[in-house]
Amino acid sequence: MIEQSQPKTIGILKTPNDPRVCLLPKEVKRLTGELKLNILFEPGLGSSLQIDDAEYVQAGASCLPRETIFKNSDTIVSINHTFSEVEMKGGCCFIGIFNPLFHDSKLAIYQKHGATVYSLDLLPRTTMAQSMDVLSSMQSLAGYRAVIKASEIYNGVFPMFTTPAGTLTPVKILVLGAGVAGLQAIATARRLGAIVEAFDVRKSAGEEVRSLGATFIEVEGYTESSNAGGYAVEQSEEYQRKQKELIHNHILTANIVISTANIPGRKAPLLIETRSVEAMLPGSVIIDLAAEQGGNCELSKNKETINHNGVTILGNSSLAAEIPLAASKLLSNNYFSFLKYKQKAENQNDDPLLTASQIMEEGKWTHQYFTKQLQPA
Ligand code: NAI
Repeated sequence: MIEQSQPKTIGILKTPNDPRVCLLPKEVKRLTGELKLNILFEPGLGSSLQIDDAEYVQAGASCLPRETIFKNSDTIVSINHTFSEVEMKGGCCFIGIFNPLFHDSKLAIYQKHGATVYSLDLLPRTTMAQSMDVLSSMQSLAGYRAVIKASEIYNGVFPMFTTPAGTLTPVKILVLGAGVAGLQAIATARRLGAIVEAFDVRKSAGEEVRSLGATFIEVEGYTESSNAGGYAVEQSEEYQRKQKELIHNHILTANIVISTANIPGRKAPLLIETRSVEAMLPGSVIIDLAAEQGGNCELSKNKETINHNGVTILGNSSLAAEIPLAASKLLSNNYFSFLKYKQKAENQNDDPLLTASQIMEEGKWTHQYFTKQLQPA
């Protein structure tokens, strides 16, 4: 069942420790104009992007203290969980990117207060949901940023340099996981002249990898699931063993590894063992974009950069937040599209996108991931 009442007032909140903003003045103007919504926002909402409160006011929104926003909003939008229990009002609707399949313990507070919660990272990866696809927006920027970060850390050049003083060989990059982030990392690294190899369990990724000028490396025996919505699924032990061996052999010749492999709702697959890191040349770099989900590298620490035997390992799943203006522009379009879609579709029962992205309605779990867990085994 989908929530029946149409949200009339939307409160936009800042996310602590995250410079991104989920709605920019341009889209706020469309929310107040086209969708006729009342928009409230917290003072300094756009300060991390040098956007004045006055720009939001010009777009038709009202600047109010945080507690007033909580009291008066039907719906609160933010990037992540931004509120304390004290601020919670019963029956409110929350929209954000909550990564609920991995951070489900944080959801108890919403349940307790009878909230309705939508998480945009649960939207299906279909054509219909493309304009709201926050994962693609953020992963694409993260893949780009990963290459830029690696180029700053790595003590060498990406393209081949032929000079009268000698030739510098191009850097070799191995990309693990060729989804949205991986493909953007490959495209960026190729533009900078790197030699790129990539690996993904999904055979279909091979064509995309090759079309970007990289070499696709494969392990035979992958099991697909038609129920996985295009996502990868966990593989047999035999497959995982072969995979680690293959990756180990390719890591030996790589200067930079960018790992992006994920399986929704699961710990990230472990692809880079300590022995592989120890076999890399000193000065090599690993950027692990799966660090928040446990990491693809055995040694990764989320939100930390460590050095192991001369190899730098940077674990960060939020690299898009390091380009906050670009990230906010994409997010603002994603959030606007979702709010517009929701306003149109919420009176229809079982709308596929609202059903897929809703975690709970008035404090009751509605997402199948959680309702299945509640059923007796
Ligand atoms: P993701 O973030 O869940 O995972 C990243 C990549 O890691 C995926 O390509 C996955 O196959 C790979 N992976 C998982 N386990 C692995 C392992 N053990 N070893 C190596 N690689 C492994 O994926 P992402 O980027 O979110 O894409 C998921 C799917 O959604 C893809 O099939 C993608 O093409 C599709 N998609 C469809 C869109 C649409 O509008 N139709 C938009 C964006 C993505």
